[in-house]
Amino acid sequence: MAVLKILVPLLIGLGAYYFYSPESFSAEMVKGKRVLVTGSSTGIGEQIAYEFARMGANLVVTARRENLLEKVVQKCLKLGASSAQYVVADMSNLTSAQEVIEETKSKLGGLDYLVLNHVGGVVGFHLFKGDMEIVKQSLTVNFLSYIQLTSSALEMLQESEGSIIVISSMTGRIGSPFNTEYSAAKFALEGFYSALRTEMRLRKINLYVTVAVLGYIDTENAMKAVGDRMSLVPSSKEECAQKIVRGGVLRHREVIFPYWSQKFVLLLRDWMPNLVDQLIGKSYKVENIH
Ligand SMILES: NC(=O)c1ccc[n+]([C@@H]2O[C@H](COP(=O)([O-])OP(=O)(O)OC[C@H]3O[C@@H](n4cnc5c(N)ncnc54)[C@H](OP(=O)(O)O)[C@@H]3O)[C@@H](O)[C@H]2O)c1
Ligand SMILES: *[C@@H]1O[C@H](CO)[C@@H](O)[C@H](O)[C@H]1NC(C)=O
Repeated sequence: MAVLKILVPLLIGLGAYYFYSPESFSAEMVKGKRVLVTGSSTGIGEQIAYEFARMGANLVVTARRENLLEKVVQKCLKLGASSAQYVVADMSNLTSAQEVIEETKSKLGGLDYLVLNHVGGVVGFHLFKGDMEIVKQSLTVNFLSYIQLTSSALEMLQESEGSIIVISSMTGRIGSPFNTEYSAAKFALEGFYSALRTEMRLRKINLYVTVAVLGYIDTENAMKAVGDRMSLVPSSKEECAQKIVRGGVLRHREVIFPYWSQKFVLLLRDWMPNLVDQLIGKSYKVENIH
């Protein structure tokens, strides 16, 4: 009961804060801005590119598959992008990550939004059997390449007083079984970028960091990975991308999507971690995971 006395007013307060957002968001804020979106050949990254395109941004999209990137660029132009180009690169190679920024600089002349979204390595559900190669691969693609891209783009972003939008996951807030390396990479991202945000503020550098904390989203790859291994209902990738772009442009510290269900779990996590472990455990069909 005592918990409810705190929880209920807190949730009402949060709700009021969430719905009463005084800032207004318009396409004008994005028109002509220079944006790089990684992992944008499919999924949420592709939708983020379309969202920026609709508002007239100058886009560079990047991933490994050129045939898909070509189509994304065409669609961005159709949707209203001021310009759209692609760079083919594999983020498991940190030199390539560095080159993506160099190519972006020569294509756009600068950068306003760095959207770090790609995910690679072994991300399907699997048991941890101590394979260090899988761990190293995941941390390289899903963590180190993000830091390399950030490091290479830092000067451009400081010059433009731009923003970094980092796509994280509930998995980066609550350890997810059967995806240990991916979970570790997302936790590492959360640590790095929250530290960087504060460091920039203390140094009075106007470079902002928004972290998106996502639940289960209906991208093709995520639905394939989850398959019959979990009982969960996914949320829309289009709506997800809209929320991410809006939160990034308005310089929100976090974008939590879908909001209520994830926020509730995050609040519980701090107060009743064992209960959260049990609740989450119930959605896994362990017998289907190898
Ligand atoms: N969907 C969800 O349920 C969910 C939940 C929480 C968080 N998230 C986060 O949301 C982000 C996007 O997820 P998503 O579901 O949209 O994933 P997705 O559809 O699998 O897209 C991943 C993107 O990354 C690219 N990529 C993969 N390996 C790469 C590599 N080695 N080098 C360069 N690019 C590479 C892929 O393109 P190529 O294969 O062409 O390279 C693709 O464009 C990720 O950060 C993910 O962790 C997703
Ligand atoms: C990484 O990329 C660089 C530059 O594109 C290339 O020279 C190098 O051979 C690549 N390394 C590997 C291991 O593929």
